This record gives sequence, structure tokens and C-alpha cells, in this order.
Amino acid sequence: MPSAILKMAARAGPGWRAGRAGARGRGAAARAVHRVALLPGDGIGPEITAVATRVLELAGAQAGAEFAFTEAAIGGAALDATGVPLPDATLETCKASDAVLLAAIGGYKWDGNEPALRPERGLLALRTGPDCFADLRPAVVQPQLADASTLKREVVDGVDIMVVRELVGGIYFGEPRGIEERGGQRVGFNTMVYSEGEIERIGRVAFDIARKRQGRLVSVEKANVLEVSMLWKECLTKMGADYPDVDLAHMYVDNAAMQLVRNPTQFDTIVTGNIFGDILSDAAAMLTGSIGMLPSASISEGGPGVYEPVHGSAPDIAGQDLANPLAMVLSAAMMCRYGLDLPEVAAKIEAAVDQALDAGYRTGDIMQDGMTQVGCKEMGDVLMKILEEESKVAA
Ligand code: IPM
Ligand code: MG
Repeated sequence: MPSAILKMAARAGPGWRAGRAGARGRGAAARAVHRVALLPGDGIGPEITAVATRVLELAGAQAGAEFAFTEAAIGGAALDATGVPLPDATLETCKASDAVLLAAIGGYKWDGNEPALRPERGLLALRTGPDCFADLRPAVVQPQLADASTLKREVVDGVDIMVVRELVGGIYFGEPRGIEERGGQRVGFNTMVYSEGEIERIGRVAFDIARKRQGRLVSVEKANVLEVSMLWKECLTKMGADYPDVDLAHMYVDNAAMQLVRNPTQFDTIVTGNIFGDILSDAAAMLTGSIGMLPSASISEGGPGVYEPVHGSAPDIAGQDLANPLAMVLSAAMMCRYGLDLPEVAAKIEAAVDQALDAGYRTGDIMQDGMTQVGCKEMGDVLMKILEEESKVAA
């Protein structure tokens, strides 16, 4: 089990708000220079990246930690600059770094590209390259934002879900795949495939996380129809015997989607395959009021992890200073805690986000009556000010 996952698993309770210190606090880890590959990507990516790096640098400096950022191209920006969505130089930069902080990729301009030249392929290759197979997507309803959810407060109050999504297998990568001519018409096809080994390694991550949370794990599949899901369910059931302390349940994906909006507090930890996890993590994200709030961590065995917001590049609002930078900032905090062993920096950043919300600052996506609406950059200013004031208080 990768050590970052063990540390993640060791955190019980409310997602990114739990500011528990890791094994190492100040000291060697805090003084080192941490190499971060910075991938702003497309759309709102550069705007939210600018906020995240400012916040990281200040919170880091306050804790004696230094970051060396190396910016690299991915997605549409890389297509425009080099003709491919993930240039070799970018992958090399990422592999030579301690962690990868990625904003978002994609946009209308490249929507018509052939499959191999879509920006999304760059993201997928970034996940498979370092074998980031475990994608952890916490969905926590912040009390300050419960009314921003499109669901009633009484439905979403207390939601604290960890979606563990398998990220480098399944129908996203299965062969054969393609579009070909059959009987006079074009046919598109993909293959959903999981080996026992792939199922077991993501299952282990999920059981370990569930056991450190509330001990409840729901495995989501479509075993009433798909063979790949029958194997998934069988493997998870077998593994359950090794985790008698975890209460394992199985749910078909259609029912899981319904239960997520009907009664989301029934869930603690969810484990599922790549495409079901893609869909359910968006649904879970929306329970929290805005997908603009949710970070994620994609973790490998030993290599650098990729930390990125769950949301996309939002080309409709790009360049207008309207984006919510908080998911990106919280992804940076996750990177500090789980990728760089800088729990103190992570806690500072998370506390600043919490305080900005408490003080009523909201970007448009989470705006409510009586609150103060700010743009992307101004939300960054607010966080910087909070960090500066906190450090004065501490001094
Ligand atoms: C996500 C995104 C990606 C995915 C896209 C952009 C390829 O939706 O990270 O959830 O499908 O995994
Ligand atoms: Mg998605």
C-alpha cells in the first residue's frame, strides 16, 4: 500500500477539514524544497492556478517550506504549442517532481479533434503514465454552504462521502475500442474490462480508507447485467473476509445514483470503477453546493500523485475572473498533506478557506443572499489576507 494512501486512510471524518498532523511536522520535511509540476491547462485553469500558487507560497513560507514550481503544458494548451495533448517533456517534468498540481483541461476549440488529439487524452495519459490508479474524491458538505446545494438542507446536512474511483482501467482504456464500418454503417465500441489484480488493488485502498472512516463501504457496479461487474462484486465480497470490521454492501450503479440524491448521508466510503466513479463523483460533488469546491488526489504506488479539482475547465467563464478557485486551492492542500508530507501547510490553507467562507465571501457559483460576491482573483486576495493575519496572531 502506498504510504500516501495509508496517511489518507489514517484520517477519519470530514474530508479536507480534518487538519490532523502527519508523522513529520516541522523539521526536515518542512525545510526541503518541494518540486511541484504545475499544469495550468485550459479554460479557467490558469486563473485558478495563479491563486493556488500564491496561497501555497505564502502558507509554505509561514511554515518554513519552499516550493519549486515547474510549469508544463497539457491539454489544449499543449496541443496548440506542440501538437500533442501530453508532450514528453511534460511527462518527464511530472515524473521528476514530488507532486503534480493540475488545474483543468479541455475547451470548445478542440472538441472536434480526433480522439487521439483531444485534450482529455493528455489527462488520461498523465494518470496512466505514473499509474495513478486510486482516485480519492471527498465530497463534504460544509455547514456554511449547505443552503447552496440544489437539494434541501435536511437532505445534505452532514454529508461526508469518500468516493474511491479506479482511475487507470475499465472502459476508459479497455481494448478493443474504436469506430469502424460494419454492414454499411459506422459503429462505435469500447470495452469494459477489469482483471482480478486491478479490482483487488483498488479494493484494498477502499477497505483501508473505510476502516479508518466510519467503517462502511459500498461497492458500486452493474452486476445484474455486466460480467465485468460480476467479477468485481465477487472479488470485493471475497476481500470483505479480510476486513471483518468493515461493513461491506453492494449497490447497482443506477440505484447508487438515485440513493445519492435521495439519502446521501447513508454513504461513508464508495468504491467503484472508472466510469461509474466519474459519474457518481460529479453527482456527489453537487450535493455540496458546487463542484467548484471539491479537490481530488490520484495516487500511485510510490510515484508522484496528481492533485486536481474535480471540476473541468469551464470554458464558458474562462478569462472573466468568475471562476471559483477553492477546489484548486484545496487540491493544493491535499497535495501538501498526502503528497509532500506538509500537514501544517495543508492545515493553514484549509483553515483559510474555512475562514473565507465564514466571513461570507462567495464566488458566483456558491453565491447566496447576504453574502459578498467576489471574483477568482479577489477570493485569492481574501485568502492571502487571512493567512497574513493569522500569522500575525500566531507571532
Ligand atoms: C474527471 C473528468 C475526466 C474523466 C475527463 C476530463 C477526461 O471528467 O476527472 O472526472 O472523465 O475522468
Ligand atoms: Mg468527471
